[in-house]
Amino acid sequence: MNWLLFEFQSPFRPVSLRQNIYKDMSKPKVFITRPDIPEDAIKRIKEECDTHIYEQEHPIPKDELVKRIAGMNGLLCLLTDPVDSEVIDAAGSNLKVIATMSVGYEHIDLNHCKTKGIKVSHTPDVSSDSVAEWTVTLLLCAARNFLEAATAIKEGKWVHQWSPMWLCGQGLAGSTVGIVGMGRIGQSVMKRVLPFDVKEVLYFDIFHPIKPAEEIGARYVEFEDLVKNSDFIVSMCNLSDETRNLFCKKVFDMMKPTSVFVNTSRQVEK
Ligand SMILES: NC(=O)c1ccc[n+]([C@@H]2O[C@H](COP(=O)([O-])OP(=O)(O)OC[C@H]3O[C@@H](n4cnc5c(N)ncnc54)[C@H](O)[C@@H]3O)[C@@H](O)[C@H]2O)c1
Repeated sequence: MNWLLFEFQSPFRPVSLRQNIYKDMSKPKVFITRPDIPEDAIKRIKEECDTHIYEQEHPIPKDELVKRIAGMNGLLCLLTDPVDSEVIDAAGSNLKVIATMSVGYEHIDLNHCKTKGIKVSHTPDVSSDSVAEWTVTLLLCAARNFLEAATAIKEGKWVHQWSPMWLCGQGLAGSTVGIVGMGRIGQSVMKRVLPFDVKEVLYFDIFHPIKPAEEIGARYVEFEDLVKNSDFIVSMCNLSDETRNLFCKKVFDMMKPTSVFVNTSRQVEK
């Protein structure tokens, strides 16, 4: 299916779209599903395209998308917009490209796009650093009981009820960190946890060995071994039929009782 996906640093490339896809048309019609995307991007699209934008700063309802996509040549959407066969068919036969401002593309029916010859682009690596930073933030907050501590301060309990072992939690130092899905973000997470003096980073991925990760110390193990032996488990694989609900009760039951689990990817039903 990957033949369909081409990667842009930004999904906003109206000039190349015109050159490559719309060469026979004067002004391609593009629909953007939100007004609150970077202004510069909207400006660049407007320079080249007949641009239509959903006015509200919230996900466009499906019936509205079905209505508004009719007759469009291009769609710029986000991961909150399910672009299924009904939406794609509603566009008519002139829809040539769907660009999603996201890494994930599970909200787009790629098979249907393939049958209709519609190209799909996404924006990998744009958010790798920010997702990795948030993932490590969540690991530390969960392990060190940050939320409970912050709540205690707000409730005025900090001074009066402090005790030496209160809210100590557990640390990353000396721990085993398991990363499921050692792609761009998985590797960014790994680079950020190494300076915390972790004992080891284990990983599981359908593709392996992943050399850049192994070169800095990651060790490949089977999924069950990772789940059973990690103190911290990070899920960073893309949503697919295989990964949907990957972390089910059976898997949680295999984890150490003290395990900290952070899922910043998308393996759950909405
Ligand atoms: N939380 C956020 O704000 C946010 C932002 C961006 C991306 N994401 C999520 O992060 C995911 C990963 O992004 P990325 O840029 O690292 O993608 P990537 O494609 O570089 O990495 C995904 C990795 O998962 C692996 N994988 C796929 N199926 C697997 C399976 N069944 N078992 C184990 N590993 C499997 C792939 O082989 C790949 O190495 C995206 O798909 C998206 O869902 C979340």
